[in-house]
Amino acid sequence: MRILQVSAEIFPLLKTGGLADVAGALPLALLAAGQDVRALLPGFPAIAAGVRDAQIVAEFDAPWGERVGLRLGRIATAGAPDIPVYWIDAPALYERPGNPYEDASRHAYGDNHRRFALLGWAAARLAQGLDPGWQPQLVHAHDWHAALAPAYLAFAPPNGKPKVGSVFTIHNLAYQGLFHPRHFAELGLPPAAFRVHGLEYHGQLSFMKGGLVFADRLTTVSPTYAREIQTSEQGFGLDGLLRHRADVLSGVLNAVEDQVWNPATDILLPERYDVRAMGGKAYCKAALQEALGLAPDADAPLFVVVSRLTEQKGLQLVLQGLDALLAQGGQLAVLGSGDAALEAAFRERATRSPKAVSVTLGYSEPLAHRLFGGGDVTLVPSHYEPCGLTQMYGLKYGSLPLVHRVGGLADTVVDSTLEDLASGEANGFCFDDFSGAAYERAQRRAFALYRRPADWRAVRANAMRRPADWASAAASYLAVYRQALSH
Ligand code: ADP
Ligand code: GLC
Repeated sequence: MRILQVSAEIFPLLKTGGLADVAGALPLALLAAGQDVRALLPGFPAIAAGVRDAQIVAEFDAPWGERVGLRLGRIATAGAPDIPVYWIDAPALYERPGNPYEDASRHAYGDNHRRFALLGWAAARLAQGLDPGWQPQLVHAHDWHAALAPAYLAFAPPNGKPKVGSVFTIHNLAYQGLFHPRHFAELGLPPAAFRVHGLEYHGQLSFMKGGLVFADRLTTVSPTYAREIQTSEQGFGLDGLLRHRADVLSGVLNAVEDQVWNPATDILLPERYDVRAMGGKAYCKAALQEALGLAPDADAPLFVVVSRLTEQKGLQLVLQGLDALLAQGGQLAVLGSGDAALEAAFRERATRSPKAVSVTLGYSEPLAHRLFGGGDVTLVPSHYEPCGLTQMYGLKYGSLPLVHRVGGLADTVVDSTLEDLASGEANGFCFDDFSGAAYERAQRRAFALYRRPADWRAVRANAMRRPADWASAAASYLAVYRQALSH
């Protein structure tokens, strides 16, 4: 099947979160399954610089008349096939340094509606034959940035060719791409597209709804989140629409890209290890403690956080539970950036207890790997979590996840209760109420298990053996693509 993956980010070229990891891994898994896959991205500087051999394949007009180019090149990664990549060559829109969505003072760019409408528009134009050399049968759009692709496809004039199918994946319903309605006129869609069963959302223009209303099939990144977003508590006002489309909505759990995240082969770790030879993990922990200035104590359980510092991630629970963590002899290492108040709060705690708390503000792929490699427990107490990748990296690296039982966290982590220790299913720690008390009980469970080394090793082995391969996720997506095409 000829499949076009449309997203705003792709690992290893441009990443602000898990979306990039998925956008980088899924094409590789589909290629490995024998599919004919290409990706489409905006021409942000990191994309323009990182895609090799990019040649102009077409020029076309944006709906508001601006002339732009379409380039085709490839992303080459060691040990994997090249991913053919189209990128939109529109320097006036995309050639801005830093974050793809915001300026240096963290304000969304004023022309984001154009910058991301063009992404969906280019996808639809490709589906209509913009590149004479390759035309997708299926367009898979990710998150609000790409969500107008299904809308443009739905309103495209028939051209006598078979209909191109569309799939829209929600990675996070909280980010919807809402704009002032006056911008609707710039998008090149018919007036009929701006109504309640269309892009209109309480008087505003919603890109997310372009995907939710017009795609043939909808997916989100875990089965539990697929159910949660159909409730008023987690539906962000879109739960009614999602219930209405429940028959075409499913959850496909993300997986872990083995080429990037595997402690047995990870060159970013000071030493490698696997479940049958765990000596390297002890070395990684000692090296990490030393590098971060923590007390060199092999017996102190090391809790790690690798996260965007936003409200979603529930990290105020980590701050609240920190005194108890330290009183029980634990250490905490945080890598993250985002919300200024959270950054300041974590920094203050590190200054107060430098031998037990380390906080690195910023973004570092190598340090993220070393934290999972050296850590004993990975904290992911998210308020809500569509899928979550860091708990899966924690599982694979034997840094047991401690999570709030929601979304994809509920689908991947099994609490270390006595019955699940006995059944061999336990692989981490879960709490149900989003409260300091419930979080601290889970934290105490982690300490209690840590003091029982044989049980700890057994749970860690369960965690490291949990299958999380992209091949099965890709097979699930292929089944969804076939359903989209049979409409
Ligand atoms: P989200 O996409 O909501 O941020 P995920 O758990 O799905 O959450 O994915 C987060 C991804 O971003 C993971 O690959 C994680 O390792 C990475 N990450 C988050 N913060 C940082 C950081 N400060 N430095 C390096 N990697 C980070
Ligand atoms: C979003 C979600 C996260 C998910 C990621 C990749 O950023 O917040 O839970 O893992 O997308 O699907």
